[in-house]
Amino acid sequence: MAEIVSAPAKIILLGEHSVVYENPSLAVPLSALRAYAEISSLPPDTGLKITATDLDNREFEINKLLTDGQQPLVTAAWLLLHHLDCPPPDAKIILHSDIPFASGMGSGAAITTALMRALVKLLGKTLADDDLNKLVYEVEKIHHGTPSGVDNTVIVFEQPIYFVRNKPIERLKIAKPFTLLVADTGISASTKLAVADVRALYEANRILIAGVFNSIGDLVQSGRRAIETGDHTGLGYAMSKNHDLLRKLTVSSPLLDKLVTIAHDAGALGAKLSGGGRGGNMIALVSEESVTRVRAALLDHGAVHVYETVVS
Ligand code: MEV
Repeated sequence: MAEIVSAPAKIILLGEHSVVYENPSLAVPLSALRAYAEISSLPPDTGLKITATDLDNREFEINKLLTDGQQPLVTAAWLLLHHLDCPPPDAKIILHSDIPFASGMGSGAAITTALMRALVKLLGKTLADDDLNKLVYEVEKIHHGTPSGVDNTVIVFEQPIYFVRNKPIERLKIAKPFTLLVADTGISASTKLAVADVRALYEANRILIAGVFNSIGDLVQSGRRAIETGDHTGLGYAMSKNHDLLRKLTVSSPLLDKLVTIAHDAGALGAKLSGGGRGGNMIALVSEESVTRVRAALLDHGAVHVYETVVS
């Protein structure tokens, strides 16, 4: 019988882009949306077959030779096998995902995490989350060039985190649960490109852009305090101000700006783009009273899906 392992999507609450420059960020898992790896054994000497149902059902065979070098799934499998010092098991892994692709929800990191967990299970080994996180980060570099590591960390640990690059992870304490609506614009956007454009902006005017990063860093600190004291108004304020600063970094888009305005008008406590931007998704912090109105308004004004999640 096939067994299934999985990993969640993620949302960046505050601090995307500036986190690449060693500023802090806050991120939470979106456990309702997941990437899955279904595993089953094959007869001896069959090798390892990985089918990616979301990549046109492409099948990758992992034999003794390293093939398809930069294909992230193949690289992920080899990195894991090398780390555990094991040959490919005779097995089949079928990967599929509920997480919209290139949507700022970490679909790549979630699929890599699920694949590596599947291999660990097939090999009958154990792997600490810290080690898994490091391996997933290596694959993230293929997807994103210079990732901060926030995506793989929140996905592997599946906990709300305060994250600063190259510093120990801190778990966020949530004083009072809060509800987020995550609206998918349906527009796929390359995080790699957005990060590269922010880099060019920074190189062209270091003082100005470092000032924007620092201001975002301040909002992350005040957002963290708000979360840890149950101050939802304060968190909403930090989110909306963060969106304004992300616009200065040129990573918003007309639809993201429209959805942020619509969310505010419908009663959200705060709203912002989340992730790489330019498309992907935006998030709105809502109260019990405003949730239905905000969801309807987002769907009426161009969101293709709205997911609801309670952060607790
Ligand atoms: C992407 O989810 C978040 C960015 O800050 C990039 C990164 O942290 O690697 C835009």
